[in-house]
Amino acid sequence: MRTLTSESLNPAILKVEYAVRGELAIRAEKYRNDLKKPNHGLPFDRVISSNIGNPQQKGLDQPPLTFTRQIAALTEYPELLKTGRDLFPKDVVSRAEELLEEIGSIGAYTHSQGVPLIRRSVADFISKRDGHPSNPEHIFLTAGASAGVSLLLSMLISSPKSGILIPIPQYPLYTATLAQFSGAPVPYYLDESSGWSTSPPAVEAAIEKALKEGIEPKALVVINPGNPTGALLSEETQRALVQLCEKYSIALLADEVYQANLHAPHTHPFTSFKRVVRDLQSPIALFSFHSISKGVSGECGRRGGYFECTNVPDEIVKLIYKMVSVGLCPAVSGQIGVDSLVRPPKEGDESYPLWLKETRTIHDALAARTKTMAARLNALPGMSCVDSPGALYLFPKLVLPEGALKAAHEAGKTPDTFYALALLDRTGICVVPGDGFGQRDGESHYRLTCLCAGVDEYVGALENFHNDFMKKYGGV
Ligand SMILES: Cc1ncc(COP(=O)(O)O)c(C=O)c1O
Repeated sequence: MRTLTSESLNPAILKVEYAVRGELAIRAEKYRNDLKKPNHGLPFDRVISSNIGNPQQKGLDQPPLTFTRQIAALTEYPELLKTGRDLFPKDVVSRAEELLEEIGSIGAYTHSQGVPLIRRSVADFISKRDGHPSNPEHIFLTAGASAGVSLLLSMLISSPKSGILIPIPQYPLYTATLAQFSGAPVPYYLDESSGWSTSPPAVEAAIEKALKEGIEPKALVVINPGNPTGALLSEETQRALVQLCEKYSIALLADEVYQANLHAPHTHPFTSFKRVVRDLQSPIALFSFHSISKGVSGECGRRGGYFECTNVPDEIVKLIYKMVSVGLCPAVSGQIGVDSLVRPPKEGDESYPLWLKETRTIHDALAARTKTMAARLNALPGMSCVDSPGALYLFPKLVLPEGALKAAHEAGKTPDTFYALALLDRTGICVVPGDGFGQRDGESHYRLTCLCAGVDEYVGALENFHNDFMKKYGGV
């Protein structure tokens, strides 16, 4: 009998890379375990997980929203509605009863597309947000946005010549999924010198280049607000992108999971692509994604999200339904999380004051940390950092001295991986090297989250490390 080997598997699987949980995260995990031993010998006493936008991760300080967890508690254990009813605000009790009335036990499979009541809540949220109607039949609840992205890419890629336009830098879900389904990534580069803006002419040039190379562009992926950049698109850019999709008959995948993470909403507001498409009366097929993992909800582990199909022909919606039904249904606790996300307490509800206080605290902390971190990183020699108006991250650029480039080469690492490993070894701070997201040839970046408490201590450690690193390799 021959043993199972990786060579016998689908070769596409071997090409998948996902840097957010890559080499750095694996070493950080090892350090986390080592730190439990009495004489660990490490030069730090905690690992700071700045590598992943996982707001409730152990060691970070974002608490779950009380409203969300109270609904979760009552729907998980309905007995509490009899024995502990008075412990919960009235609006929470009535919401839980409404959900249970519709769902029955959350231990049962639901409609494959998601509980109809929750899809109606989502449609309501979207129509209020955009001022355009939304149809619950065109909404699919998912196990996080990732599941929806993965499903739709698997359906859109019909041959290795199927091109999917992706921003560079991008969130590696896209390159990983394209590798898995053997699609052709068609990169378009974001412009760091203008706050990581998206240039429609650059997107068009990427489409033209792909066409010349025999690639058939199928879809344009836009992440707004951006990951890892935090950039927000202007409406003018959004309109131009929609028009490009129209001109080249390509679908638009709008990844809007950070739509609630706005650090300066008055100067940098969020506009959904759904609104832009409807305002323009554009016929393009649009898939818009949202998630309970980000925003102030931060319920990553609960795996909840949805996508909405706009201008997607019925025969395709039916095929999507067929595909999701193979997986039976998204986790019901995640679906309930979606309901809490899109139907938070209203003014006048008993839960409202606490919900408002908790959400404001999270928004304010994130905005303040982002600003402080960007300013301090920007002040370092050999580093520049665009201050981001949205999402959870910064993506500073490194201009490393020749000595560091040579040492990285000798170590068989890219310069940014070399830098990030040295940072982790010395300080316990885990970031993700820029090459995991894509960057221009010869450039170095890294992504760090703005979710960690104790910014002074943590950025201080990062500054000390950076200054020593630059000195060591002849940068200052
Ligand atoms: C841009 C973007 N899209 C999608 C996701 C996936 O989120 P989830 O599957 O947890 O909803 C993430 C997670 O970090 C992300 O940054």
